[in-house]
Amino acid sequence: PSILVLISGSGSNLQALIDNQGSDYKITHVISNKKAAYGLERAAKASISTTVHNIVPYKKKHLEDATAARPDFDRELAEKIKKLNPDLVVCAGWMHILSSECLRPLREAGIPLINLHPALPGAFDGAHAIDRAYDAFQKGEITKTGCMIHWVIEEVDRGEPLLIKEIEMKEGESLEDLENRIHSVEHVAIVEGTKLALAKKT
Ligand code: GRF
Repeated sequence: PSILVLISGSGSNLQALIDNQGSDYKITHVISNKKAAYGLERAAKASISTTVHNIVPYKKKHLEDATAARPDFDRELAEKIKKLNPDLVVCAGWMHILSSECLRPLREAGIPLINLHPALPGAFDGAHAIDRAYDAFQKGEITKTGCMIHWVIEEVDRGEPLLIKEIEMKEGESLEDLENRIHSVEHVAIVEGTKLALAKKT
């Protein structure tokens, strides 16, 4: 089975997927919405083809109507993915909310998407989830956090979870140490979640 990975940054989760390729899955392409994403170098080193799909040209194209840029970006992203026709799309450190303009065509084409989110279901949806969990722990509001792999739907980080990994938080632990612990768990979850999604899909 083939997977296409969407990234925006360092790509440490992409690296975990690269390192665990085998009979369960092969990565056939990587798309980044940022041309400076280090993950693009990781893909190139692994001889995986890449595309940069950045919002700037769409903003220039729609100078007269800025609200048209994102739907256009999303529509064309779906077209690019459909042409590559992977069995599964994996959002791994992908920091762009995908609207129906992207999700509907992919749904119709039978191409599912999963996403890695560094929090427990419904706890800290959206960006900066780890920072927000850390603050909540300092305030005594939570005692654990974690990460999950979920099916991507229009509601951000609200799709049905495929895999949930809990992490106990520690008194006096620095944000950086918590981040490192969560990222280590993510690197396992992203591979496990991808295999689960492929097994469920077929
Ligand atoms: C990870 O915490 C991921 O869940 C979040 O971005 C962080 C970096 O991911 N979306 P990566 O190193 O780019 O894979």
